[in-house]
Amino acid sequence: MRWRNSIDNWGLISKLFHWLMAITILFMAGLGLTMINVRLSPMKLEMFIVHKSIGILLLAMVIARICWRVMNPTPSLPDTMSSRAKMFARFTHVWIYCLLIGIPLSGWVINSAANFPLRWFGLFEIPAIVAPNLVVEEYAKLTHMTLLIALGITILGHIVAALRHHILLNDNVLRRMWG
Ligand code: HEM
Ligand code: HEM
Repeated sequence: MRWRNSIDNWGLISKLFHWLMAITILFMAGLGLTMINVRLSPMKLEMFIVHKSIGILLLAMVIARICWRVMNPTPSLPDTMSSRAKMFARFTHVWIYCLLIGIPLSGWVINSAANFPLRWFGLFEIPAIVAPNLVVEEYAKLTHMTLLIALGITILGHIVAALRHHILLNDNVLRRMWG
């Protein structure tokens, strides 16, 4: 197994980034929806700390992943795909990267505008990125939620596309990301 991507296969690092981040994002979505609905308690506060700490970690991971992506060749899509379909697939991936930056950033803005401390897993302080402001906090909450809905819809399409490649088109697009 190669570490780096080649022109026709994803390397180990890209696969690790993909699946580790996919699982963590699903966990974060579940945690986020649960934590806003539980009653105020020490457990709720714990859930927020974990959510924000993992969220900041995901932001760092997506930046590292994008750097890795540009430092490596990108496996080409099957020749059976039209150039339009290839462009659409690439555009969708760029869009997912934008959402993966926008979601944790908007979360960070909520926390900063609400003037909450942000201690990364209780270890060290992460600075605020905006000044305390109620209006900014509300807009950031709306943005966090809207981008999450956009991600949910995009990922559903992404999964359907991956399964379509595997089952209907019978090419190696899913196999080379999975296997
Ligand atoms: C990819 C990373 C993230 C995912 C998937 C995610 C997901 C979610 C979800 C599903 C919710 C509940 C729905 C909502 O209120 O919007 C939520 C709420 C929240 N998230 Fe995140 N989040 C992420 C990153 C972050 C980060 C980095 C922070 C802060 C540093 C953060 C702070 C918050 C806060 C404060 C709320 C509560 C908002 C409210 O009260 O309406 N999130 N998040
Ligand atoms: C939250 C969940 C997920 C996220 C955020 C995500 C994100 C991404 C991104 C950004 C890429 C583009 C990689 C690049 O070009 O740099 C990608 C590729 C891919 N994803 Fe996902 N993904 C998720 C879940 C899944 C699932 C569940 C499947 C399978 C059913 C899947 C199958 C694939 C495949 C096959 C590729 C490679 C496409 C190609 O070769 O061009 N993904 N994913």
